[in-house]
Amino acid sequence: MQESIENTKFIKFKQLGDERGHLVVIEGNEDVEFDIKRVFYIYGSDPDVVRGQHANRDTEFVLINVCGTSKVRVDDGKEEKVYVLDKPHEGVYIPKMVWKDMYDFSENSILLVLASEHYDGDEYIRDYEDYKTMMCQ
Ligand code: TYD
Repeated sequence: MQESIENTKFIKFKQLGDERGHLVVIEGNEDVEFDIKRVFYIYGSDPDVVRGQHANRDTEFVLINVCGTSKVRVDDGKEEKVYVLDKPHEGVYIPKMVWKDMYDFSENSILLVLASEHYDGDEYIRDYEDYKTMMCQ
């Protein structure tokens, strides 16, 4: 079943670099397993803030802390797992219908998010009890 935390995964991107510094390339359908239709980034969140707190019916994501650190808790209604994002060449893949919380942001955190779909607020499930009910059917 796609909508399970077993299908979340930690990704290490290749670092291309030389004496001038590092460079990471992420190509849709190559370095991530979907076509990238949307990019957004989250910064300026205090360490006690919890963001996310939703699941998406249709969208897959890859989250990368390109600067600073944060944690991502994924949950499929049965189990949960925490990923630590603390390197600009590492990320986490989150399939559709997996609940996610992002928290413990460092002051300098810039969390880059790659998404497989354009934004549609209607595909977000923002009530955890509704989510659990859907997942336990
Ligand atoms: P929200 O999904 O609550 O952010 P997060 O999951 O990072 O905590 O989004 C915050 C606001 O931004 C909300 O009003 C919806 C809007 N938004 C867009 O318009 N387009 C987008 O692609 C995203 C991710 C959010």
